[in-house]
Amino acid sequence: MNKEKIMELYARHVSSGKVEMYKKYDIALVPHKRRGVFLYDITGKRYINCHCNGGVFNLGHRNKKIMDAVKKAMQRYDIGNHHLISQPKAMLAQKLAATMPHGLNQVVYGVSGGEAIDTAIKLARAVTGRPNIISAIGGYHGHTGLALATGDEKFKKPFEPLAPGFIQVPFNDVEAMRAAVDEHTAAVILETIPATLGIVVPHKDYFKEVLKICHSHGALLIMDEVQTGFGRTGKLWGFEHFDVVPDIVVLGKGMSGGIYPITATVYKEDYAFFFKENPFIHISTFGGSEIGCFAAMAVLDMCDSTLLNNVNEMTDYFTKKLSMLSSQYPKASFTVRGLGLMMGLAFNDEMTALFMVKLLFDNGVYVVYSGNDPKVIQFLPPLIITKREADLVIAAVQKSVQALSQ
Ligand SMILES: Cc1ncc(COP(=O)(O)O)c(C=O)c1O
Repeated sequence: MNKEKIMELYARHVSSGKVEMYKKYDIALVPHKRRGVFLYDITGKRYINCHCNGGVFNLGHRNKKIMDAVKKAMQRYDIGNHHLISQPKAMLAQKLAATMPHGLNQVVYGVSGGEAIDTAIKLARAVTGRPNIISAIGGYHGHTGLALATGDEKFKKPFEPLAPGFIQVPFNDVEAMRAAVDEHTAAVILETIPATLGIVVPHKDYFKEVLKICHSHGALLIMDEVQTGFGRTGKLWGFEHFDVVPDIVVLGKGMSGGIYPITATVYKEDYAFFFKENPFIHISTFGGSEIGCFAAMAVLDMCDSTLLNNVNEMTDYFTKKLSMLSSQYPKASFTVRGLGLMMGLAFNDEMTALFMVKLLFDNGVYVVYSGNDPKVIQFLPPLIITKREADLVIAAVQKSVQALSQ
């Protein structure tokens, strides 16, 4: 099928709105062949994926080790049955627990990040017996029921009435958090580095302070590592940078290895009593599919010191080169922010950032801007990117800022 035909069919049966928008800005990418850091449009044009779907493609597209693990698993396993006891689920949970701080060793599996967030919120409400959930203004935790309720008005208004008990406060503001948390608070839920808010890195003590506030009121801290997990920030888990141990951690995206959807809600043993008393109160037919467990185990095996060293080296390289380009082209200047390869390129205004997204697209680099702060381009290269591939990205950025300056 040619590109026109696919787009016509997609518009007719899946999303006419998306097709219209991509056509309008001439940024329609219909992925065909894909491998490593590269994604090819059906016309053959090559892109370097510096969006990575928020971390789904941390290990690149169609990573051989993940594919091999899944192929091998398919010789013996299938989705499995969530009613039954499962060896792959037990093995993966043991592996996940071994990577977490002491006590964070209980795992509930899901299919999507939103589902895993819903599970975290359900658990927090169940173990505290309290209603309120506090999240960040401009944060993003997904579009399922409870996850949606944590988000901004623009996403949830058409779907009202939503679950009650959700309160938003500004991110990275300890005093606002102190004023919001009380004896009705079940949990505070925060992304370690909110991507949709514009890759905002909070100050070093923020999470420690929030945890103190939570615990002094008997509330829990849930950290959403859906994007920051699995090495993205240069450590396995983003919260490790902040010297904090959350009560519940939510994992998604990169856990799939880009091959098989699987997510997890990891929580402290202290709260295991709830599901012990109610083992069938939370069900997910496809959650923690056994094939997916093998994909996730292979992902964890790959998130070793070699990968993390590459992330840290590439972070330094990109930061240096991108900052140089920014000062070389003052008309298109931007600041580079983030932690590890969870990077944001913050431009002076939204229009410049939008032009830059388009120019980068034309020059073969796929990125998106932050939905709740469009002057920031989310820059998330695959964690396996080599220096040579990074140079291709930097050359495309140079071409784009040059064009932008003229
Ligand atoms: C930080 C964060 N949390 C949760 C989600 C929801 O994940 P999913 O789309 O898999 O439901 C996303 C998705 O983009 C996300 O970025």
